[in-house]
Amino acid sequence: MTKLLEVNGICKSFAVSPAPGQKSQRLQAVDDVSFSMLPGETLGLVGESGCGKSTLAKLLMGLLEPDRGAVHFQGLPLSGLSRRQRRPLLRKVQMIFQDPYASLNPRMNVEAILSEPYIIHNRPQDAGQGVQQLLDAVGLPQEARFRFPHEFSGGQRQRIGIARALALKPDLIIADEPVSALDLSIQAQILDLLRELQQQYQLSYLLISHDLSVIRELCQRVAVMYLGRLVEIAPVSDFFHRPRHPYSEMLLKALPIADPRHPQHALPAGEIPSALAPPAGCSFHPRCPYREQECQTSAPALTSLGNDHFAACHVAEKLFLDGLST
Ligand SMILES: Nc1ncnc2c1ncn2[C@@H]1O[C@H](COP(=O)(O)OP(=O)(O)OP(=O)(O)O)[C@@H](O)[C@H]1O
Ligand SMILES: [Mg+2]
Repeated sequence: MTKLLEVNGICKSFAVSPAPGQKSQRLQAVDDVSFSMLPGETLGLVGESGCGKSTLAKLLMGLLEPDRGAVHFQGLPLSGLSRRQRRPLLRKVQMIFQDPYASLNPRMNVEAILSEPYIIHNRPQDAGQGVQQLLDAVGLPQEARFRFPHEFSGGQRQRIGIARALALKPDLIIADEPVSALDLSIQAQILDLLRELQQQYQLSYLLISHDLSVIRELCQRVAVMYLGRLVEIAPVSDFFHRPRHPYSEMLLKALPIADPRHPQHALPAGEIPSALAPPAGCSFHPRCPYREQECQTSAPALTSLGNDHFAACHVAEKLFLDGLST
């Protein structure tokens, strides 16, 4: 089967304005990340704030160019193409954002918001019928088209954002914290909608969330990021029962209620080191209860542990870490 997405060793750093009298610095937001996705798959991406999740999403959307490495979508490279060559490819990858308030233009009514993708992609003739179908698909009434974003609740606004992402019939939707700004009961409704749409349109999702219970509910596999690097990637059930990276264990231990209907924000103990001055060796070693000498000097590569489970940890083979008991 052709891979939907193939990411090979991508890196992205940003220049950071120096403090007075100091040399300018670069912050490594995404550091040598590789993974792939199959068509129809839902992959979760978790990690603490600032670990590089949104930067990775922008690299996959073609909104940022990687410093190194390559992204292939359905076998075609995203880099090195002209804007015109890239356009049909990028149409197949769409994004849903965390904050439906900020991501919708307040001056445009829903009809204009949902027609825009058709107009940008030179298919204005498809907009009329398209908008009608999109409203049906996301469970909004037809009269919604004449109303403006501020006239809707948060959950309804997220439905508008989802409809806009669906307009051009994408194959992959990157959802960056799609429910974290919503009330719990509304979160469940939006997750149900995402699941229904996935079946209806054969979508793949890359679901970014720092909420492991959302990941557990929707994803087949989960990838864990720490300070710009992927530290674990595994099938969801395996991951929750037997995580193989100490950081993942820490995230799971911070999940007090093992019930996907009660999402919690996972916040492990200890300070996150700065991405500007990452620790030597394994960047997790200062917080790791299992660290050994080697961990302080050499950075572990993401290594197969069998059964489609990968972890970047020198001591992973020896450890029996705690997962969730239920
Ligand atoms: N345009 C930019 N210029 C400079 N630094 C940036 C830029 N974009 C992101 N960063 C930095 O890169 C790092 C990764 O940011 P990113 O937004 O990808 O994290 P994140 O995992 O999405 O966090 P959150 O969970 O808070 O959304 C952070 O330290 C951030 O400050
Ligand atoms: Mg983010």
